[in-house]
Amino acid sequence: MTGLFRKKIILHGDDQPVEERMARTLSWPHLVALGVGAIVGTGILTLIGVGADRAGPAVLLSFAIAGAICACAALCYAEMATMIPASGSAYTYSYAVLGEVIAWVVGWSLILEYSLVVSTVAVGWSGYAVGFLHGLGIDLPDWATHGPSIGGAFGINLPAVFIIAVVAGLLTLGTRESARINTVLVLVKIVTLALFVAVALPHFDPANLHPFAPYGYGSVAGDGGVKYGVMGAAAIIFFAFYGFDAISTAAEETRNPERDLAIGIIGSMVACTAIYMIVAAVAVGAVHFSVFGKSSEPLALILRQIGQGGVATIVAAAAAIALPTVLLGFLYGQSRIFLVMARDGFLPPALARLSTRGTPARITLVTAVFVSVIAALTPLDVIASLANAGTLCAFVAVAACVLVLRRRDPAARRPFRTPLAWVVAPLAILGCVYLFTSLQVVTQISFLAWNAVGLAVYFAYGRARATVAQ
Ligand code: ALA
Repeated sequence: MTGLFRKKIILHGDDQPVEERMARTLSWPHLVALGVGAIVGTGILTLIGVGADRAGPAVLLSFAIAGAICACAALCYAEMATMIPASGSAYTYSYAVLGEVIAWVVGWSLILEYSLVVSTVAVGWSGYAVGFLHGLGIDLPDWATHGPSIGGAFGINLPAVFIIAVVAGLLTLGTRESARINTVLVLVKIVTLALFVAVALPHFDPANLHPFAPYGYGSVAGDGGVKYGVMGAAAIIFFAFYGFDAISTAAEETRNPERDLAIGIIGSMVACTAIYMIVAAVAVGAVHFSVFGKSSEPLALILRQIGQGGVATIVAAAAAIALPTVLLGFLYGQSRIFLVMARDGFLPPALARLSTRGTPARITLVTAVFVSVIAALTPLDVIASLANAGTLCAFVAVAACVLVLRRRDPAARRPFRTPLAWVVAPLAILGCVYLFTSLQVVTQISFLAWNAVGLAVYFAYGRARATVAQ
């Protein structure tokens, strides 16, 4: 058992050897844009339909509950990220506070979160892109647009691989360049949602809100183990809210991390919660949920239903243009987490070398290949909820770190203090555990199996190689 709970003394970016330091190019507007870019995506564009299908108009409550839990987690992230402004996010905080084996489980869960989000959104993007090309009269062969499990036939999702390659190429060019393009695309996304609200709001009809909660307020298992009800939907809608955590992985590239990380994390979370509540209320009020609940492009469908086919096309095209910001945020975060794990001895050190542009180019490319394989071969079905499971685990760990450090080192310098920490952090933990229990059983089992494999790798490989051990 020796060493399982050994802790790492964290080097901040500027304490790293010169050749391992990344360039500090980001300030808080970039971070808010990175956060909004990573948060607003498949969740509000597509999963709003799944949520409405499972909760009815009460999906509004699912949004509010998932948002409240994420807000508690975001406050905890802001405290930890400003106290320990090093790349690696929840993995790094856990290594410093809770010990190595827990950090490993958290790191392994983060890999699940970040990889599956990138793969999920790339597959979702592929759907939009294929539809868009079809509209232009260009049809890709069927085998090139889906993973192999569709109908059991051979298939490889080439558009998904293509978009990951584009975003990875951009990231290796430089963090600042990526942040600039990200900011422009985030504006496209916000304008698109504003357009939806402006066009659909006049069609708001309170009659569409009845019955408000057809499947109740809890979480009840239906066909195929799918969970219905407000909480069952909240466990999926949770996907829509995270992404603010990706900001904490930018700590070593931020000019003034103590101030900017807190603004970036909380600012992007508040902005997105406001946007989501408005879009969701307008969506369920404009058209009855039974009409768009099963759609793979619910916002466009709602617009078509109210006779705005032209706007629907614009919204669909803008979604395809802007969705890659989610890929950018998560691919960026994943490469930084891998970078820190490599520095810690858990991955080959050559991977952690920086390019002449000060970005971890090798690890970005390795990450891109890894998520491309998943995206090329995996259907969307359960991967979004599996990503949620990984994220829930990381959020619990960060809230636990806040509480442990408050007790262990109450006088430590905290540039940002979570208000009412002894209420907010336990709420984050309980909320995340409850959402985890509301996920489908198959997702829960897959998550546990993933971590069992992770622990086997830790004992067979990672434990002896940990830099801390040497
Ligand atoms: N929150 C991100 C999305 O909805 C993951 O796509």
